[in-house]
Amino acid sequence: MKKPRVLTGITTTGTPHLGNYVGAIRPAIEASEDPDVDSYLFLADYHSLIKCQKPELVMQSSKEIAAAWLSLGLDPNRTIFYRQSDIPEITELTWILTCCSAKGLMNRAHAYKAAVSSNEDSGEDSDFGITMGLFSYPILMAADILVFSGERIPVGKDQIQHVEMARDIAQRFNHSFSKILTIPEAIVGEESSVLLGLDGRKMSKSYNNIIPLFCSEKQLKKSINRIKTNLLEPGDPKSADDSAVFHLWCAFSDENEISNMRSKFQDGIGWGDAKKILFEKVNDQLSEPRDNFRRLMEDGSYIEMILKKGAERAREQSTSLIDKVRKAVGIVSLS
Ligand code: TRP
Repeated sequence: MKKPRVLTGITTTGTPHLGNYVGAIRPAIEASEDPDVDSYLFLADYHSLIKCQKPELVMQSSKEIAAAWLSLGLDPNRTIFYRQSDIPEITELTWILTCCSAKGLMNRAHAYKAAVSSNEDSGEDSDFGITMGLFSYPILMAADILVFSGERIPVGKDQIQHVEMARDIAQRFNHSFSKILTIPEAIVGEESSVLLGLDGRKMSKSYNNIIPLFCSEKQLKKSINRIKTNLLEPGDPKSADDSAVFHLWCAFSDENEISNMRSKFQDGIGWGDAKKILFEKVNDQLSEPRDNFRRLMEDGSYIEMILKKGAERAREQSTSLIDKVRKAVGIVSLS
């Protein structure tokens, strides 16, 4: 039986933090180990140009994100791991799809609408600072998915609309030309995998409350010591469920360890002690990946080799799909 194809992309901006690890990287790596799926994972580096026009940063983020996934255990033999910009068929399909996507559909995209309304709120022209890249972003994402006939697309909630748009675009193409494109479906991760940050809100770069994933041991300890707590003294019983310290503990522990920690909270463990064991736990799980990450970052040639191999495997699919698409729209050899 043919295995369902699971495909997802990672926009290469920023440096991964602990929240990305618990919420996205770890579950995706676990899912990629399922022998009953055909797994594709890629670095969406062309998407990063929408947010970032600093070449140094674009390059650095691609490298860091590739190194992070590999050092955390993504197996490139099992998962086809590649870089969007190594697959010319993606950009080629993007144009063909652009010509059969309704502008009105793009007008409804949340990210674009948010940019327009923030301009209006600040009294700017509604188009101020909005590039065609931001506007047509969902078409590039549709091409990412459709060029590989991705069936299940694991995404965060904010991306569901984009997968819906990819469905619309594919249906319209199939209806206008021929039934070549597979209709994808969004798979949304569990809410429980959202990690809280230093201030107790969701860990996010925009809240400035993150714990970096691959910082030094010393920095990790410092970050954990900064997690917000209340004024209860050692010996005072503490509510585990209201505590970001406990929440983080849960993300790195098994059921037994969780219930032990819950009792320690009831028994009044001091915040300093709780943070100390939390640090040891997290550090224990990150120290090996941290060393791997350092090694990969020192010499980019291993990452490059893996990505090139991934692209080679991926293009076996994308070149045959783009051939069919070109024929269907009439871009063909004249001889
Ligand atoms: N836009 C997605 C995000 O920001 C990343 C992405 C790009 C993606 N192309 C994709 C995800 C294709 C799934 C499928 O998270």
